[in-house]
Amino acid sequence: MKKLILLLFMCLFSSSILAQNDNREDKKAFIDALLSKMTIEQKVGQLRLISVGGELTLDKVLDQIEAGEIGGIFNTVVEPDLSRMQDRALKSPNKIPLLLGFDIVHGHRTVFPINLGIASTWDRQAMALVAQVSADEATSDGLNITWAPMVDITRDPRWGRVSEGFGEDPYLTSEAGRIFVEQMQKPSLAEKNSLVTTVKHFALYGAVEGGREYNSTDMSERKMFQEYLVPYKAAIDAGSQAIMVSLVTVNGVPATANHWLLTDVLRHQWHFNGVVISDHGAIRELINHGVASDAKDAVRIAIKAGIDVSMNDEYFLQFIPQLVKEGALSEDDINNACRHVLSLKYDMGLFRHPHRNLDPNLDIETMFADNRLHRKEAREVARRSIVLLKNDNKLLPLSKDQKIAVIGPLADSKRDILGSWSGAGRANLAVTPLEGINHAINNPKNVSYALGANLSDDPALFKFLNLYEVTAKFDDRPVEKMISEAVELAKNADVVVAFVGEAQGMAHESSSRTDISLPESQKRLLRALKATGKPLVIALMNGRPLTLVDEFQQADAMLETWFLGTEGGNAIADVLFGDYNPSGKLPMSFPRNVGQIPVYYSHLNTGRPHGTENMGKYTTSYLDSPNEPLFPFGYGLSYTDFNITFSLSATEMQQNGQIIVTAIVENTGNREGTQTVQLYLQDVTASVSRPVKELKGFESITLKAHEKGEVHFIIKPEMLKFWNDKMQYVAEPGKFNVFIGSDSTTQNKQTFTLLNN
Ligand code: BGC
Repeated sequence: MKKLILLLFMCLFSSSILAQNDNREDKKAFIDALLSKMTIEQKVGQLRLISVGGELTLDKVLDQIEAGEIGGIFNTVVEPDLSRMQDRALKSPNKIPLLLGFDIVHGHRTVFPINLGIASTWDRQAMALVAQVSADEATSDGLNITWAPMVDITRDPRWGRVSEGFGEDPYLTSEAGRIFVEQMQKPSLAEKNSLVTTVKHFALYGAVEGGREYNSTDMSERKMFQEYLVPYKAAIDAGSQAIMVSLVTVNGVPATANHWLLTDVLRHQWHFNGVVISDHGAIRELINHGVASDAKDAVRIAIKAGIDVSMNDEYFLQFIPQLVKEGALSEDDINNACRHVLSLKYDMGLFRHPHRNLDPNLDIETMFADNRLHRKEAREVARRSIVLLKNDNKLLPLSKDQKIAVIGPLADSKRDILGSWSGAGRANLAVTPLEGINHAINNPKNVSYALGANLSDDPALFKFLNLYEVTAKFDDRPVEKMISEAVELAKNADVVVAFVGEAQGMAHESSSRTDISLPESQKRLLRALKATGKPLVIALMNGRPLTLVDEFQQADAMLETWFLGTEGGNAIADVLFGDYNPSGKLPMSFPRNVGQIPVYYSHLNTGRPHGTENMGKYTTSYLDSPNEPLFPFGYGLSYTDFNITFSLSATEMQQNGQIIVTAIVENTGNREGTQTVQLYLQDVTASVSRPVKELKGFESITLKAHEKGEVHFIIKPEMLKFWNDKMQYVAEPGKFNVFIGSDSTTQNKQTFTLLNN
């Protein structure tokens, strides 16, 4: 009976009061009518995102929802709670459905590689697959909005959130961001499995000084518009309907209080019409930043700057009505913000289908049922994410009949392989490298395993990692005992594969490091393994570029596996045994030492470049280190070899013309493989100094042994544009270098001239 009444109510509700169609006039009329009925408190309710936790129990939240005081929920990922929340929203005075959000950063129930890994695929299809599967799984569980993609570019691997982004480059990151938005939101937000994206963190979070979490940023406007702002803009141009504001100070003004950033740039220059969401706690933090005197002042400043929605709101409801009454905020300020939220909900079709994808009978076990997970897709993307860094004497691939000693603190850790921001996944469903190797090998007796060392000897680190839940275990056997056990196994094996790196919690929010080398416990283990004289494969598991000069020397072969997600162990085995020929490329330079940071490929030449005309004194260099990183951006080997040559269709280009680049790729080895051909451009002489190279295109090609193939790029004037000396976005006539190659160090060069017509 209850159900029948509810059904009747829903029909009435959807067909009459909140009927909607796609006509813009109707939408405006609908929202105007709704706004005219709403009290100021109810409008503020729409601007509040709340999560259950601490003193805010589910019951309290449900009551607030019914009172119309909450516009969206986040961090609840289980039915029937989501359904109950939406049901209660439909009992609120204006019956406005809720946004149901979660951080779906690299997968949902099925966890894909961390974003640095996804970026390492340099494969648009792989990126699209991750986004599609994530959106499908999340919406099937009832969610309708996510706080992703994260497109903060960074050149500082000390920053822990490096793992969440797509690396150092504006173009690669923009491509990933664009694809995530397009695939998650789908062509229409009203589609059943469309998930609203929230591009973040606007802006410059990845440029925090010293790589220290939450630190300030300061940057010229040219560098911002030329590099750091590019990916946010790309995601907005792709249609992202929400944006999250960064926690940091941008050129002296916290982003949350930054009218220039949130209104002049975002709304006026970029014409963003969606919802602007503050990050967790950011409103209160304006007091610490020293731009607001108290919480009430912080609310006023944030709204005036252009914030619509307060994440985990503490103060909006408390102060906005009062601020409006006092005239410090106008009702129009609040109407504007509220209109953005209602407009989004309207476009999502929520008023018509508030229960879209919600199923109160969906139990938690069903959410993780095998037939709902996407293991095949996860394995496909994971193996594509692995980067082969070294392979002396073609040690890899291994034979499935070899005796293998699998060693290391990350060889059998189910939690770590999921990486950070994988809260909706389940560690017990993940495949560890040890498990993956055991699945693949012909005779399981040939595989032996030892921990060998703890991730670190430092108890404080474990305390930190386990602050909120136990994610890292400490083995309290004596260090020597663990090492000698590992060494014994190594001596009895044909080859040693050591899984070393970081715990997932070491490359996360709030986990900056000043020393990005392997912890001493793991270095000690590697030294002991090396001393056995057995061939050594170092398989890295980590969420940021590490400094690996010693390990690079020690290893016969080296793999960067990042944190690969649910199917990580199987993907690693695929690569180790050659069932998949590795093709990943680094999306970020790996420094030799922390002193080189920031080290990135697209730097300026300086007036005294080192290593071309002059290697000596008075050139830009260090006394104690080369300038070049250990592994450059775009780098990654294969089990086969490729040769790349190229030609241009012309040596001159009209202002409205184009040049076609034809690259001939030859697989010169004797097994099939995939190469990612990279296009870099350099504006040789311009009104401002331009980078030595900028990535402008990439395409993969798979070739059989000794096969040849072609890859094409079209260079258009749009790709030559930059912010000139007058801060105009133009392409200046003159000479351009075109580089084509397999990584950013390529010197394979041709030249053309952009004409002045
Ligand atoms: C992070 C955001 C995230 C939010 C909600 C914040 O701490 O900075 O990236 O979306 O929490 O989980």
